[in-house]
Amino acid sequence: MKVATSTRGIVVLIGSMLLVSAWVSAASNMPLATKDAGASLSADFHAASCPQLESIVRAAVQAARAVNVQVTAGLLRIFFHDCFPEGCDASILLEPELSTGPNQSLQKNAVDLIEAIRAKVHAACGPTVSCADIIALATRDAVALAGGPTFAMPLGRTDSLEGADDVSMLPGPNTDVDSLLTVFNSRALSDPADLVALSGGHTVGKASCGFIRDNDEFSRSLIKQCNASPSKKQSLDTITPDVFDNKYFVALKARHGVFVSDQGLADHRRTSSLVTTFAANQTAFFAQFAKSMVKMGSIPGPKGEIRRNCFRPNSRVDMDVGSFSAVADE
Ligand code: HEM
Ligand SMILES: *[C@@H]1O[C@H](CO)[C@@H](O)[C@H](O)[C@H]1NC(C)=O
Ligand SMILES: *[C@@H]1O[C@H](CO)[C@@H](O)[C@H](O)[C@H]1NC(C)=O
Repeated sequence: MKVATSTRGIVVLIGSMLLVSAWVSAASNMPLATKDAGASLSADFHAASCPQLESIVRAAVQAARAVNVQVTAGLLRIFFHDCFPEGCDASILLEPELSTGPNQSLQKNAVDLIEAIRAKVHAACGPTVSCADIIALATRDAVALAGGPTFAMPLGRTDSLEGADDVSMLPGPNTDVDSLLTVFNSRALSDPADLVALSGGHTVGKASCGFIRDNDEFSRSLIKQCNASPSKKQSLDTITPDVFDNKYFVALKARHGVFVSDQGLADHRRTSSLVTTFAANQTAFFAQFAKSMVKMGSIPGPKGEIRRNCFRPNSRVDMDVGSFSAVADE
């Protein structure tokens, strides 16, 4: 069953990659959601109503990392997939999105961790904190615990009333830098430094062998190694796979990037000097990463609700949700 679904996922992903270029030309004319929910976010949004929030989230992420350090990558990718298409609204946690296309390869343990944290937070404070805020905070903490920057994350998001429907929003691994700049620009991430620093999220985590670029000797040997590995995954940062540091950029300088979308950043005239700077200066990368994460976390979405269960809208109490793993393994 797993094999069948992931094959379907790859087919959908390739399909959506083909759609990216068509989508990109329409993107510049497409306004972001008109309701500027991002403007009302603030780091102390829950300070009075849920003073325990930050300590609950941090302890839960720390415990999850003690079991599996990969959860940092899992959360980081969920945050990207949640925020990028229509603003951070936990739409990523609703079916059918969760089991479709690139979202299928989201880490199940990271998805389940979010709902587990929500349950703890609501038990302590009542239903005052959205699943979208929990994704944002947990991701922020997971990055810091992996060695990355510590920064304040603005809060006050609401959860979507239904799933998102734009399947072609997320760029694929073979996307060229011109298209990446265009699609990031359409999400209010208009500074090329946003694209370069956020791509630095690939300093942790793994990819399926089939996404590895296939255009030089290094990448071909990587594909071979990957295919021979029992997990059939390749670390996105070839130097320090599980540490949040600037080695992803050092690897790009050595032409050891894994995707076309990664390695391209070292060559494009609007991004190559940023790659050089971040490879030489981790402080500069961390400062820009924190800034761009806050920016991506503030992409405005439509106003919604505080979900009582991250896997279903409140109006759908009839909907049978176990954990995501239970859903996915059916
Ligand atoms: C710039 C465009 C981007 C492209 C084309 C891209 C593409 C991909 C692809 C294809 C994978 C592998 C999925 C798999 O095989 O399971 C992946 C993994 C990942 N991406 Fe990206 N990504 C991009 C940007 C980002 C951003 C902005 C972040 C977060 C800041 C991010 C974080 C991650 C992480 C952490 C993983 C590893 C997930 C894991 O190990 O579970 N990516 N990305
Ligand atoms: C993945 O999830 C995002 C966020 O909910 C959604 O916008 C996107 O359409 C989903 N992708 C697919 C292929 O369903
Ligand atoms: C590294 O970047 C930081 C932050 O931008 C900057 O203050 C510092 O001067 C840089 N260090 C070097 C050696 O360039």
